[in-house]
Amino acid sequence: MMDVSLFSDRYFVRRMVSDDIEEIYKLCRNNALYYKYCPPFVTEQSIADDMKALPSNKEAFDKYYVGYYDEDKLIAVMDLIRGYPNDRTAFIGFFMTDISVQGKGIGSEIIHELCAYLKEYGFSSIRLGWVRGNPQAEHFWHKNGFTEAGVTYDTDNYTVIVAQLAL
Ligand SMILES: CC(C)(COP(=O)(O)OP(=O)(O)OC[C@H]1O[C@@H](n2cnc3c(N)ncnc32)[C@H](O)[C@@H]1OP(=O)(O)O)[C@@H](O)C(=O)NCCC(=O)NCCS
Repeated sequence: MMDVSLFSDRYFVRRMVSDDIEEIYKLCRNNALYYKYCPPFVTEQSIADDMKALPSNKEAFDKYYVGYYDEDKLIAVMDLIRGYPNDRTAFIGFFMTDISVQGKGIGSEIIHELCAYLKEYGFSSIRLGWVRGNPQAEHFWHKNGFTEAGVTYDTDNYTVIVAQLAL
């Protein structure tokens, strides 16, 4: 079992629970650009659903839906699945920072610290996806060393580009 408090030295990290949904919603709803590319727009119900969602063949104990706090302020949310799509890979299903702290390197710092922890824990790669055409997401993951895995998949509303980083 991974210790989420070790995901960051800089921020306090803990698992999110249903009582946190309202606070998560407030963080998410200001990120309009994200939902333009990845509709539908967030609701408290969609957050509740995402907190439970799992890829096929994964169990609840493989899922780490966490919040990052700078003192009392929730500054980032991440959905991490351990061992997906294979044992040595961790999958980031969702990552978002509060709009008030964006563009200061905080998102990159969080990913950098997470990579160090996951490597130490024994993972050899991280996998994730972004919606094709979302400049913010594409720029951010490229800046953090992720490259296209050569796989895409289509949903009804958009195409997801799968990317990965070797640890
Ligand atoms: C992507 C995200 C996590 C980055 O968080 P952050 O704390 O701002 O991260 P950083 O400050 O480390 O880096 C942000 C980079 O994105 C770039 N960026 C921000 N908005 C952008 C836009 N509209 N178009 C292109 N690049 C953009 C910034 O220029 C910066 O890169 P730079 O340092 O080379 O200038 C944050 O913008 C976010 O939560 N977006 C909405 C959710 C999302 O897209 N998540 C990722 C996909 S799952």
